[in-house]
Amino acid sequence: MKKVRVFAPASIANLGCGFDVMGLALDEVGDILEMTATEGDGITITNRTDVPLPEDIEENVITPVIRKFFEMTGLSGHIDVVICQKIYPGSGIGSSAASSAAAAYGMNELFDCPLSDEEMVICAMEGENLASGGYHADNAAPALLGGIILIRGYEPLDIIQLPIPGNFYCAVSHPEIVVSTKVARSILPKAVSMHDAIRQWGNVGGLIAGLYSGNIGLVGRAMKDFVAEPYRKQFIPEFDQLREKILASGSMAMNISGSGPSVFSISDRREVATRAEEIMKEHFTSHGIGCDVYVVKVTNKGAKLLAQ
Ligand code: HSE
Repeated sequence: MKKVRVFAPASIANLGCGFDVMGLALDEVGDILEMTATEGDGITITNRTDVPLPEDIEENVITPVIRKFFEMTGLSGHIDVVICQKIYPGSGIGSSAASSAAAAYGMNELFDCPLSDEEMVICAMEGENLASGGYHADNAAPALLGGIILIRGYEPLDIIQLPIPGNFYCAVSHPEIVVSTKVARSILPKAVSMHDAIRQWGNVGGLIAGLYSGNIGLVGRAMKDFVAEPYRKQFIPEFDQLREKILASGSMAMNISGSGPSVFSISDRREVATRAEEIMKEHFTSHGIGCDVYVVKVTNKGAKLLAQ
């Protein structure tokens, strides 16, 4: 028998212009799983948190991740999972990815690390597919590997770790509204006009250049999304007005985190991020919506083992 206790962080996907190809890990919040491998086969999952999760293991994102691990490695075993800490599903800060990443990382540790980083991401994407109906790694890769990630390609998976500028602060707010990623993906158009595509890839290039040169002003200018945000902002009360207030207070950008409803802003100073945090809180409270807010400095930490 072998047992591990694993943490995987929350994450912000898309970073504005990088729909399905960019994301970053948040250090403050995340999921914790205890995983035990014994001889035999089968999977049991126990939820020890207050967060409501499906009881059927076929509906839990952890299950396809474990199965993919066994399929890729040819190994076998009975896996018992206890969910000890859980980000609320539908929050937009990578709830399904945190569980999927923790499960992939935990499996790899239980079986003496047969998989590479990219192979663990492939396992974690099985969980994302169950949750959202699509194979995307823009939450799962940062939740596993930490930092800011570009997924240059999916076929084959090509993951690039981007530099984190020294003065890069995010304010993140998670309003108590649930937006299912499946729904938020289903309302997107199937095609993008050439005009929007040109604006979008100009911004992706600008964002990467800004990260490499540590130019947060450029990062902020580039964090514009013409592909998903116009269709998704309807889920967030007075999104445009909130962004105006946040930008007027000195932040460089504000966008939807992943498929929402969480939003995040970026700035090059902690006090500006703290101001954004207050504005977000006031905004949602004035709409009768409670919210959790955090200010985080983006770091390089991803999934990790915890002491048992
Ligand atoms: N890139 C995904 C989306 C992230 O925007 O649908 C889901 O959190």
